[in-house]
Amino acid sequence: MLLKLSNIYKSYGSGQAEKPKQVLNGVSLQMTQGETLAILGPSGSGKSTLLNIIGALDKPDEGDIIFNGNPLNDYSEKELSSFRNREIGFIFQSHHLLPQCTVLENVLIPTLPMKDSVDKKEGLQKALDLIKKVDLWDHKDKLPGTLSGGECQRVAVIRALINNPRLLLADEPTGSLDRNNALAITSMLLKLNKEFNTSLIVVTHSAEIGAKMDKALNLSDGILELSK
Ligand SMILES: Nc1ncnc2c1ncn2[C@@H]1O[C@H](COP(=O)(O)OP(=O)(O)OP(=O)(O)O)[C@@H](O)[C@H]1O
Ligand SMILES: [Mg+2]
Repeated sequence: MLLKLSNIYKSYGSGQAEKPKQVLNGVSLQMTQGETLAILGPSGSGKSTLLNIIGALDKPDEGDIIFNGNPLNDYSEKELSSFRNREIGFIFQSHHLLPQCTVLENVLIPTLPMKDSVDKKEGLQKALDLIKKVDLWDHKDKLPGTLSGGECQRVAVIRALINNPRLLLADEPTGSLDRNNALAITSMLLKLNKEFNTSLIVVTHSAEIGAKMDKALNLSDGILELSK
């Protein structure tokens, strides 16, 4: 088992003035290495909240997360940050590329904390391989501002894979793209998932994209269930 969430609860707004809003109300989830999952659900249902908790960007109020046999509750902040950098790749709705850095430099950003020059060399080789694999070779020395939205999102995908994470978390990665580009990014994610056996959780509003994953789950009223 790669990931096991048990009875995750999360609410926001526990200040005196407002009534706390319960967002996650006992969410449980299990996922194996290499599996692909879609999370669907209405706006405001807590999909991003759940993804942030899985990626240790946020903490649940209650509940356990076991990643690859290790309980995240036991990790210090420092261990959590190194866990995120090693084990998790993040992709967001907008690509978050640095405008002043080239495509290649953007892909290499997650390797910057590495101190070992052998690791750095491997990172550069992997970046160049990934850039070729997703047909961005001719763009590798360009700035993101000169690329299309779909091309930028391809850069964001390979940047998320550069450190060989076990799990890729994608929060509406195709939300800003038209249908053709959205389907192209989805096929690319699935191809990379097969090749590297990286597990994938993708939040999407598209039932069509959801149906391409091994499982599609629906988050509604704080509960996560298999989508019908
Ligand atoms: N940091 C925060 N502080 C207070 N409330 C928050 C915070 N983050 C999210 N919320 C609230 O929690 C609920 C769930 O938000 P979340 O962003 O997880 O929804 P979502 O399912 O990702 O929605 P969307 O599809 O629009 O992206 C919303 O009502 C939101 O307003
Ligand atoms: Mg969201």
